[in-house]
Amino acid sequence: MIETIPSFGLGTFRVDAAKTAQAVSSALQIGYRHIDTAQYYNNEVAVGQGVRDSGVPRDDIWVTTKVWWDRLGRDALIASLKDSHAKLDIGTLDLALVHWPSPQGAVPIAETLAAMQEAQKLGLIRHYGVSNFTAPLLQEAVKAPGGKDIVTNQIEVSPFLANRKLVDATQALGVKVTAYMPLSEGRAHNDSTIKSIAEKHGATPAQVAFAWLLSRDIVVLSASTNAEHQKTNWDAQKLKLDASDIARIDALDEGRRNANPSFAPKW
Ligand SMILES: NC(=O)c1ccc[n+]([C@@H]2O[C@H](COP(=O)([O-])OP(=O)(O)OC[C@H]3O[C@@H](n4cnc5c(N)ncnc54)[C@H](OP(=O)(O)O)[C@@H]3O)[C@@H](O)[C@H]2O)c1
Repeated sequence: MIETIPSFGLGTFRVDAAKTAQAVSSALQIGYRHIDTAQYYNNEVAVGQGVRDSGVPRDDIWVTTKVWWDRLGRDALIASLKDSHAKLDIGTLDLALVHWPSPQGAVPIAETLAAMQEAQKLGLIRHYGVSNFTAPLLQEAVKAPGGKDIVTNQIEVSPFLANRKLVDATQALGVKVTAYMPLSEGRAHNDSTIKSIAEKHGATPAQVAFAWLLSRDIVVLSASTNAEHQKTNWDAQKLKLDASDIARIDALDEGRRNANPSFAPKW
């Protein structure tokens, strides 16, 4: 059983449903041990299939799902996690996240966390956490009963959105940061600074972006259905950037956010 969230995971957002099981299975065979899905992605059945097809022992894999914001009240959350548990069909899920905070605080975080604890007792999940929480929302969550056990705050972080205040506030609370959209919707591949650092190390631009996140003690999620991309992305864990590389990437921050739907909190 894995007890801490693995630092490099495969994302499955916007992955063609027909390709999901194969992508998950291929990543697990390469060495990935962390798969990220969500109720909203509508692919939990295929993710579970990929886990089973991979041949990797279930206990060696960390699978995260996320509960959508319209089902954060007690009854709806428990029902949705029963559904996720059945769809994934891989036994107890390793982590369930609150995908987005309840808009306008309609459902108090204390109710949601109590329901997560109930889901643990029911054997549906082992751990829980949050996603897209601002620093004040996370501070409130950590203070609520059960809040000390929040494993991670999954947020957007990329070279163009260093998200420093929120990353620092999350880490100061002892909560792990997990980064999504680390390539900023493909922009990292074509950025001249990232490309020149990649050339210097004989690496790919994606590897440079991931290595920069790992140097900040941030868990990386990247999505790919292409086995070659999966392999080179995975190998980013071996790339060590020097202080000047990191300073050059730090300077790319322009606070540019890709994920900002109408129900997002006020960042
Ligand atoms: N909590 C949230 O609200 C939230 C929001 C967004 C995402 N997420 C999670 O975070 C995960 C990561 O975000 P993301 O999907 O935007 O990931 P990403 O890794 O930034 O982007 C994925 C895209 O990059 C391409 N790609 C990946 N590696 C590549 C490489 N080495 N060379 C060229 N292209 C490459 C993939 O295409 P190929 O398949 O062709 O490789 C895919 O189209 C998501 O999948 C999801 O699980 C969470």
